Amino acid sequence: MKSQLENIYNSAKSDIEKATTIADIDDIRLKYLSRKGEFNSIKKGLKDLSEEDKRTVGALANQITQDLENLLKEKHDCFYQKELNEKLQKDRIDITLSGKYTPQGKVHPLTSTTNEIVSIFQSLGFSVAAPEFSPEVETEYYNFDMLNVPKDHPARDVQDTFYVKGLEGVVLRSQTSGAQIHVMENQKPPIKIIAPGRVYRNENINARKNNFFHQIEGLYVDKNITFGDLKGVLNEFIRLYFGSARPTRFRSSFFPFTEPSAEVDVQCIMCQGKGCRTCSGTGWLEVLGCGMVDTNVLKGVGIDPDVYTGFAFGMGVERLAMLKYAIDDIRLFFNNDKRFLEQF
Ligand code: DAH
Repeated sequence: MKSQLENIYNSAKSDIEKATTIADIDDIRLKYLSRKGEFNSIKKGLKDLSEEDKRTVGALANQITQDLENLLKEKHDCFYQKELNEKLQKDRIDITLSGKYTPQGKVHPLTSTTNEIVSIFQSLGFSVAAPEFSPEVETEYYNFDMLNVPKDHPARDVQDTFYVKGLEGVVLRSQTSGAQIHVMENQKPPIKIIAPGRVYRNENINARKNNFFHQIEGLYVDKNITFGDLKGVLNEFIRLYFGSARPTRFRSSFFPFTEPSAEVDVQCIMCQGKGCRTCSGTGWLEVLGCGMVDTNVLKGVGIDPDVYTGFAFGMGVERLAMLKYAIDDIRLFFNNDKRFLEQF
């Protein structure tokens, strides 16, 4: 039995010497050392030996098993290292190579400015009117008639307003003020809304004017609303939007749908009020029109002007963005030059 054990040991040893891969090692372990392996079948014969032989042969069997285990482990570790090194060599990555550039999309500066203005007004208790109250393709009825704009007013002229071909009385809205009418027709006071959106005008394009631009309309109708409330809200808006005091002026003005009416100018940031191309030499940029809602407008939508009063405003998003970021030409917003857009 002893010699049988030694034979198996020698044959296992020579198998191990010939092995070249981890898979070979696994096969050898299976062949000799597993439960069904050669050693085990011999060890089963131990029980027929005398007590003394059992001890010596048993000890030898254990010794040989242990030796083979050690040899297998040694080889296994050695192949493992070798295979790992080969794999590392093959899959080597050059960490000094520059990566693939993935450009990141950004929100357009007019969108982010609109979002910022909207959230300021939300913080002052205004909510955004439902989009169906603020359509871009509008009727003259909402864009002009209900806003108390007389039939012969120059703003209606084809010079200023884009009329939709073939559709009588349909225009691309020239102002967001029509949203006021839609909202007041559908809601009872108190009304406290803003309506952001795009407007169209047949303008000669220059540094300050484009033939479409963006406005944010505001309307607050309730009992006892005064011009003081209007000034308070707009001054607070300007303070929050610019983050610091900017020279600002209320200038009296005229709009058919408000009485009294005013415009708000903010000092030109490009020239600090000295006068430049952007502000056409005046030192100021007009950012919004506003006023107390005209009694004719309130009556038109069935709101009693003896009970309710209100103020309204419409501000230009491009102008406000230009003044905040010192952008000297409105056309930069629309020609999609990445060198401009990437700065935001
Ligand atoms: N819609 C006017 C414009 O586009 C701006 C404006 C003025 C809006 C006075 C208002 C307002 O709501 O009360 O020039």
